[in-house]
Amino acid sequence: MRKITKHQIRVSFLGYFLSLTLISSCVSGQLGKNNGGEYKNGMVVSAHPEASAVGIEILKKGGNAVDAAVAVQFALSVVYPNAGNLGGGGFMVYRSAKGEINALDFREKASSSARRDMYLDSVGNPIVDKSLYGQLAVGVPGSVDGMVEAHKKYGKLNWNQVVQPAIDLAQNGFKITKRQASELNGLHRDFMKFNPNGTAFINLESTWKENDLLVQNELANTLKLIQEKGRAGFYEGAVADSIVAEMQNGKGLITKIDLQNYHSAWRKPITGTYRGYKIITMPPTSSGGIALIQLLQSVEPYPLKKWGHNADSTVQLIVEAERRVYADRATHLGDPDFYAVPKNELLKHSYNKNRMSTFNWNSATPSSSVLAGNVSGKEHEETTHFSIVDKEGNAVSITTTLNGSYGSLVVVKGGGFLLNNEMDDFSVKPGSPNMYGLVGGEANAIAPNKRMLSSMTPSIVEKDGNLFMVVGTPGGSTIITSVFQTIINVIDFEMQMQSAVSAKKFHHQWLPDEVYVEKDALDSLTTEKLKAKGYKIMSRGSIGRVDAILRTKWGTYQGGADPRGDDNAIGY
Ligand code: GLY
Repeated sequence: MRKITKHQIRVSFLGYFLSLTLISSCVSGQLGKNNGGEYKNGMVVSAHPEASAVGIEILKKGGNAVDAAVAVQFALSVVYPNAGNLGGGGFMVYRSAKGEINALDFREKASSSARRDMYLDSVGNPIVDKSLYGQLAVGVPGSVDGMVEAHKKYGKLNWNQVVQPAIDLAQNGFKITKRQASELNGLHRDFMKFNPNGTAFINLESTWKENDLLVQNELANTLKLIQEKGRAGFYEGAVADSIVAEMQNGKGLITKIDLQNYHSAWRKPITGTYRGYKIITMPPTSSGGIALIQLLQSVEPYPLKKWGHNADSTVQLIVEAERRVYADRATHLGDPDFYAVPKNELLKHSYNKNRMSTFNWNSATPSSSVLAGNVSGKEHEETTHFSIVDKEGNAVSITTTLNGSYGSLVVVKGGGFLLNNEMDDFSVKPGSPNMYGLVGGEANAIAPNKRMLSSMTPSIVEKDGNLFMVVGTPGGSTIITSVFQTIINVIDFEMQMQSAVSAKKFHHQWLPDEVYVEKDALDSLTTEKLKAKGYKIMSRGSIGRVDAILRTKWGTYQGGADPRGDDNAIGY
């Protein structure tokens, strides 16, 4: 098993949060790595300064937001390997300067030989590590196909130009941050276990230190093949051979046919309105877009602004909305190519109004009385989001992931990239309690070639027909909460972008029936009032790492880079 560190806690769901309270990440003040400036020509906000710099350089060369996004995705696979990836997947929400909107689903898929009970023992109980570690945990990667598709449809620079910065970073190396040095040292034994032939992440001579140069020659070679051959450089030929060989090292299921057959899907974005703003967000296979609109509809009739940010009435209302929406998520959401998601019903104002009708100001509604379904409750939080706007006003919102930190921990031998452990986002055992006492949903049961449900919620907000905000975050099941609270922080509480991102957040997800709050999110009086009504308040570490951009009424861009990580906003 992995050594337990801040980012790799693999214990029960309850224990996970309790542990996080003990080792909570330091939220270093209100300003992220953002010089606070406003820019006219464009902006990139991502989890790593090197990746944001790559995106801005592409924009300055005349690339558009999609060119920059492709370059940032590839750069993150080099400089932010705990979530940036070639071997994972993600979602893109796009809005052109003229108002065209689109969404790209490049989520991983189960192999064609995946089976519903593949992670169960002989008596039908989940074998937890099997969906979390090693080759069997891997879904067919979608990121490279996604980038090829996005670039083919909207890119302006040539493919060569957008892949090159990542090759340079892999080949020449980049200086790791203090946080990265500590993560790589913490995972040393696990990387040795899953990669006995070595990987660039293993330092055999010493321990990693801040500013050490991480050179990834095998990854550079893979990126060169992708640069030369596009999707065939990854899904066919030497890289595909290496992935399949890696599967055979550890009983993994992915075959050459699975790789050849992988294609990302253009989908119609989910749209909704909130206090006159238009929300454009990710449809299923994400649960996030539908849940975000449901949350906004649930709170819209109430005067949040009058009550105040994180005031007891505000928190109570949001917790009750989240309880109901997460209950719906658990039962009704899954891969739309396999399951008829009742999205029209879930997005009806009357439906959400009716759901909120059981809310009582005097006491917490017990989750046991809010029936809908169940959540797996163990989503991992090591995802990453980036937001980009270009000179014309085209906007891209991408959230991408390997699932757990460094995914399955398997680095493809010869390929130099990590493989995801996204299979764990399926309900491993639908219909009966999992190891956390929770029940998974039928909609998200494992099936061959099916995509696993996600909470990733890349979103774009419009005001009066113009771009207003680009927003998203990592955070597993807390993603939806963080995107929702960032949006209301701006619209209801009139915060600037950086303050809205930095503001302390809280989270409820129906089960467990607990309210998780970041340190200092609620004052003691608010906490006492909520406890008196029956809310179980649990302190925990950071919630989300939002990277967002706001367009001001003067047409300039403000960045919001989350101070909870090494995130960085650059404009020009
Ligand atoms: N792997 C986390 C998510 O997709 O929501």
